[in-house]
Amino acid sequence: MSMYKGFASRAIHHAYRPSDNEGSLTPPLHLSSTFVFETAEAGGEMFAGERPGHIYSRISNPTLDLLERRIADLEGAEAGLALSSGMGAITATLWTLVSPGDEIIVDETLYGCTFAFMRHGLTRFGIKISHVDMTDPEKLRAAISNKTRIVYFETPANPNMRLVDIEKISDIAHEASATVIVDNTYATPYLTRPIELGADIVLHSATKYLGGHGDVVAGLVVGSQEQIQEIRLVGMKDMTGAVMAPFSALLVLRGLKTLALRMDRHSSSAMKVARWLEAQAAVSKVFYPGLESFEQHDLAQTQMRQPGGMIAFELTGGLNAGTNMMNALKMIQRAVSLGDAETLIQHPASMTHSTYTPEERAAHGISDGLVRLSVGLEEVDDILEDLRQALPSETVAEAA
Ligand SMILES: Cc1ncc(COP(=O)(O)O)c(C=O)c1O
Repeated sequence: MSMYKGFASRAIHHAYRPSDNEGSLTPPLHLSSTFVFETAEAGGEMFAGERPGHIYSRISNPTLDLLERRIADLEGAEAGLALSSGMGAITATLWTLVSPGDEIIVDETLYGCTFAFMRHGLTRFGIKISHVDMTDPEKLRAAISNKTRIVYFETPANPNMRLVDIEKISDIAHEASATVIVDNTYATPYLTRPIELGADIVLHSATKYLGGHGDVVAGLVVGSQEQIQEIRLVGMKDMTGAVMAPFSALLVLRGLKTLALRMDRHSSSAMKVARWLEAQAAVSKVFYPGLESFEQHDLAQTQMRQPGGMIAFELTGGLNAGTNMMNALKMIQRAVSLGDAETLIQHPASMTHSTYTPEERAAHGISDGLVRLSVGLEEVDDILEDLRQALPSETVAEAA
């Protein structure tokens, strides 16, 4: 437990004291790859887990340790682990937990590389991947069995914004003794804390909102002390080697300091942009948890502090209209990734979700015309103006 109550205070101070670090206000960067043992016996005891301390930076490092404590505190978990990327976090976690013959039940929609890792990767090693529409928890109840080792989902899901009721899904999964893993990249712990709602493990691409500035690729996992130690020593140390670089940890720690501030702004701007998009004749559908028209608006209101910064939408003119609009943008950047200061736009079917075959995309609710917008931190009027000038002029309505 942190000595501070507020999220923003903990994101700035938790687990760090300048007086323990020569008065340095910001945490030191420990670049050392290896650590010196006081005696040969002490080294042996550390390897045996009988004595605390750092051995080698593929296992642990003081700069990473601070970030791990801080994200665990913000997520309400016992322990955290820092990895080289979001995919490093996902692969190290799953390689630790699954064995041939196990089943993983996943939601219909996943980030493209997560989908590829599971459906095209893990299945080669005797793991069964079953998709269930988790927007209806009863479908999970019908599908789950004693072979189900893990229940895995994103909420909101990348790219189509589906929400999953973490509490209901966790209850059903636990009745069958399955482990619940949530990718919380879109929401961040500021908007949703899955552990408090019953999930066992939470994953992040810290490349996104947690880093927040588009200058680091990083991943994080939180869970119980026991689970995290296992993922550290098996999935990270031996099976992937996907450890985070100390400098990256410092960048994520810096990002966390402004996470609450940034998420407030991302959410309030995205709300205005979503409302504006919804009023446009050129836009056929907007998927944003803050809109009353969003199918799971009620769940969004109970599960998310705010609706977040991500919007998906479709244009009446389909893919062609989407491409034309993206090419006409001036300030908004055509780029994958999300959660940065810059507003970013991309086309999932040909970019982040091109790891799905066209048939898989059709089956998993990722339409060819879908456009994904990560609403940034610029003045919202400039974001709206850029979108306005990029849409065909006869279809543009005034800003609400
Ligand atoms: C929801 C989600 N999970 C995981 C990842 C993978 O993270 P990384 O790119 O840091 O490996 C991404 C990346 O886009 C993502 O959007």
